[in-house]
Amino acid sequence: MRNRSAHGWPMLEARESVRNLRAYHPPLGGREGLRLDFNENTVGCSPRVLARLQEITGEEIACYPERDPIEVVVSDFLGTEPKELLLTNGVDEAIHLLCETFLQPGDEALIVVPTFAMYEISAAATGARVITVPAGADFEFPACDLLSRVTPRTRLIAVANPNNPTGSVAEPARLIEIASHAPQAAILVDEAYFEFYGKTLLGQWRSVPNLFVARTFSKAYGLAGLRVGALAGNPEHIQMVSKVASPYNVNGIALACLPTALADQDYISQYVSQVRQGRDELQREFAGWGIRHWPSQANFVLASFGPLKTEFVKSMRSRGVLVRDRSRDYDCDGCVRITLGTTQHTAQLLHALRETLAEIGAKEVTAR
Ligand SMILES: Cc1ncc(COP(=O)(O)O)c(C=O)c1O
Repeated sequence: MRNRSAHGWPMLEARESVRNLRAYHPPLGGREGLRLDFNENTVGCSPRVLARLQEITGEEIACYPERDPIEVVVSDFLGTEPKELLLTNGVDEAIHLLCETFLQPGDEALIVVPTFAMYEISAAATGARVITVPAGADFEFPACDLLSRVTPRTRLIAVANPNNPTGSVAEPARLIEIASHAPQAAILVDEAYFEFYGKTLLGQWRSVPNLFVARTFSKAYGLAGLRVGALAGNPEHIQMVSKVASPYNVNGIALACLPTALADQDYISQYVSQVRQGRDELQREFAGWGIRHWPSQANFVLASFGPLKTEFVKSMRSRGVLVRDRSRDYDCDGCVRITLGTTQHTAQLLHALRETLAEIGAKEVTAR
């Protein structure tokens, strides 16, 4: 029963789909130390971006931001046409806009679990039914199960590739197959971790028009605080998605800095190569200790510490290294996700990890 005002009118209430949402509060407080908990760049953006920031004038800040010219720059960089691209307030906004554009109550949205939380939140908020498809026993992409869950009501399929928090990937051919099998649905391939993987579906919407690719500048580029990402796809669909977006969705400071960030590819490639090397080292270290972990193509590795997980996270924190407890994610009981950064940060991580494992008695670490 809805509450009534003095006039007998119903009081303000959020939509039922919003009332039923679980709130998502990433643990952002108390993050002093080496931050290996949010998959951010551990040393920050290119120094050239910092120099550009210092040049920004009061006049620039006073103006409403102009997105179009920067969309041309980003399109050039990605090899798309400007009309195939929309810059967004991070990939988070791209997800939200896709859901707003294509979903309505009664529709179905398919997601593979475990995965990034915002797909479920943005899809469920529209009143659509979110159908979760569990990943395989080793978190492998469940292409056949996903295909079998497609119905005429499926209007969104969201896949992070590489996936967060597992680091596992779906082969591009399987994603194309799924998109072709569900032409009535928007297929979002979220390439937030592309730089650490290297395979992309950019441009494939020219043969499979319901395919969208999202990219972020929050991870390898170290711009998470500026909030900027991109959604790319078929021009007619992108035009529809743009209708839902504010013309000023990306702030002027982010737009001013983005061309500089893109121009400094040396910075990105040297950072990415250190992350990839650190990823190999961490996986080897886990293997040496007999700790179950999953091969990752992203800038993090997920590992299982079983019942010792809370002690592990606490002990790492006491050594100044923040890692992320993911045990609440689907099928991730006892799992912790650790972000990789520079060579120096990997050395610091491994030092803390060895001390921690010795302290908590790594031999008791049980498999998932
Ligand atoms: C798969 C995935 N997509 C999107 C995001 C959010 O990206 P952005 O900062 O561009 O909103 C994250 C962040 O953790 C992520 O893991």
